[in-house]
Amino acid sequence: MAYEVIARKWRPQVFQDVVGQEHVTQTLINAIKNERIAHAYLFGGPRGVGKTSVARIFAKAINCPEGEPGTPCNHCRSCLEITDGSSTDVQEIDGASNRGIDEIRELRENIKYLPSSGKYRVYIIDEVHMLTLPAFNALLKTLEEPPPHVKFLFATTESNKVPITILSRCQRFDFKRIPLDQLAGQLKHIAKQEGVTIGDSAVSLIARASEGSMRDAQSLLDQVISFTGKTVSGELVHKILGIIDRETLLSATKAVIEGNVAKCIEIIEELYNHGYDLKDFYRLLMHQFRMLLFCTLLPDFKPIEMTEADAAELRKQAGSAGETKLQMYLDFLIHREENMRQSSYPRLILETTLIKLCRVEDFLSLSDILKHLIRLEKNIPGPSFAPQPKKIMEDQPISASSSTGYSSPQKGEAAGKDVEKNWDDFIKFLSRKDRFLSTMINGAVFKGIKGEAICLEVGSNSFAAGYLGSSDKAEQISRLAQEFFGRRLRVELTRNASEPLGEPVKPSPASRKGDLESSPLVQGVLSMFDGEILREHKDTKEEKKI
Ligand SMILES: Nc1ncnc2c1ncn2[C@@H]1O[C@H](COP(=O)(O)OP(=O)(O)OP(=O)(O)O)[C@@H](O)[C@H]1O
Ligand SMILES: [Mg+2]
Ligand SMILES: [Zn+2]
Repeated sequence: MAYEVIARKWRPQVFQDVVGQEHVTQTLINAIKNERIAHAYLFGGPRGVGKTSVARIFAKAINCPEGEPGTPCNHCRSCLEITDGSSTDVQEIDGASNRGIDEIRELRENIKYLPSSGKYRVYIIDEVHMLTLPAFNALLKTLEEPPPHVKFLFATTESNKVPITILSRCQRFDFKRIPLDQLAGQLKHIAKQEGVTIGDSAVSLIARASEGSMRDAQSLLDQVISFTGKTVSGELVHKILGIIDRETLLSATKAVIEGNVAKCIEIIEELYNHGYDLKDFYRLLMHQFRMLLFCTLLPDFKPIEMTEADAAELRKQAGSAGETKLQMYLDFLIHREENMRQSSYPRLILETTLIKLCRVEDFLSLSDILKHLIRLEKNIPGPSFAPQPKKIMEDQPISASSSTGYSSPQKGEAAGKDVEKNWDDFIKFLSRKDRFLSTMINGAVFKGIKGEAICLEVGSNSFAAGYLGSSDKAEQISRLAQEFFGRRLRVELTRNASEPLGEPVKPSPASRKGDLESSPLVQGVLSMFDGEILREHKDTKEEKKI
C-alpha cells in the first residue's frame, strides 16, 4: 500500500477525534441532535487546526443514514464517498481557484437539484475570503434563502476579509490554535500507534515549533521520522528542524542582561555557522524576553513548554534584570523587528541590536533622567546649605505594625538579613513593586540603619523630600521593607541643608551657574538631546532651558 502521510492518515473522522476545538464540535453535535441545523456556517481560524476536517465530518454526519445523530458511521456508502471525495452530494470548492462570478452562477444552477442519495447537498467552500466581490454578491441571494436541502460550509484563515453581508448570514465559529499540551498529547498518541519511540523533549520541541497547528505538528513529526527512523531524540529534532535550543536562548538573554557583548557576538557567530535562521532567532529572543518580563510581573509564572530547571534560570535572569530593563529590551526589539524581517543582512541587524541591548543602560530612560536630576539637585552646594543634617520625619509612625496582610517575615526575599548589605537588592525588589518609588529612593543617599529606621538623605526642598515624606509613601515603604527584610522599618529623612522645611533656600544664582555648567549631568543632558543652554532664569527656580 502506498505510504500515506501522517496528516492525512490521522484526519479526524468523527467529532470526538478533533482535538482542542470542543467549543465548535459540541455545538455542532447538539445542533444535529436537536435538528437545528443552520443553512450556512463559517469556520474561521489559523491553518491546520481542523476546519476542513470538521466540515467533512459535519457533511458526513448530516447525511449518514446509519450512525447515531451527530456521529457519522464512516462505513456506509455516503460516509465512504465523502471521505474519499467522490460524493456527488458533497462538493468541496477551492475558493482560491474558483473565485469568479461564473463559478458562483454555476453553483447557483446546481443547487436546484435534489441530493442524489443523501439528505443534503453540501457545499464546502475553502478559503472563501478569496472570492471576488461580484462572486460574493452573487452568493448573497442564495445564502438568504437556500433550498432546504442545501447547506453551505465556508472555511477561511482570514475571516476579516469576508464581507459582513456574508458573515451576517452564517453561523460563525472561530477555531483556536491548539494548546501545546494537547498538540503534544496527540503527537504522542500518533507516535505510539505508529510504533515510534519518541521522548518528551522531542515531542515538546515539535509541538512548540508548530505554533498551534496540528497539521504542521504532524508534518514535522513525519519529517523527523523519515530522517531518524523509529527512534526520535530531542537532540536530533533540534538538528533536523533547525530549532534553536532553549540553552542558546537562555545564554543569549543572560549575555544581554549582563551586558556581555563578546558573548552575544559569539552566540550569533555560532548560530550563523550552523545555518540557523537568524530571523527566527530574533523572534524567539523576543518571545524569551516576553517570558522574562512575565516572570517579573507574575510570581508563579512558568511557561508550559519549559522544564523546571530552565524556568528556574529564567526566573533568576528576570530577577537580576528587573522589570524596567526588560521592558526596555522588549520595546527596542519590537521597534526593530520590522527592520530585521525585511533586511537582507539579518546578521548585521542582529549584531547591532544585541550590542545596543547590552548598552541599554547608556540610554537614559525617563526614570534615569529623573533620578539624576534628583541627584543633581542634591549635590549642588550653595552658601546656605549647611552641612548638618536635620531630621524631618523622625516621628513617622511605624505603620507596618498597624496594618494587616503583610507577608510573613519568612516569605520576605531577604528575610532577617542585614539591611545595609542587602540595600541594592531591596532597591531591585522595590523597582519590581513600584518603579517610581524605587527611583525616588535610589535617588536619595542611603545613610544606613539606625535602630529600626532607614536613614535617607534627600535634597533640600527636592521633589523627593515631599514625595518620600508623605505619610502614604512612608506607609508603603514600611510595608515593603517588612515584606523584603521581614522587619518593621520606617524611613527617616534627613536633608543636606539646615534650613527648616517649607522655606525654600535661595542660593545665589551666580554661585549656582558655575556649578550647573560644570555639572556632568548637565553636560550629559546637553549631549544626549544635542542641546545648548539658551538662557538661565535669574529667578529662584534656577531653571535652565535646554
Ligand atoms: N483539531 C484537530 N484535531 C486533530 N487533528 C487535526 C486537527 N486539526 C488539524 N488536524 C490534522 O491536520 C490535518 C489538516 O487539518 P484540516 O485540513 O482540517 O485543517 P484546516 O484548519 O482546514 O487547515 P487550512 O486552513 O490550512 O485548510 C488533518 O488531516 C489532521 O490530521
Ligand atoms: Mg482547510
Ligand atoms: Zn455513514
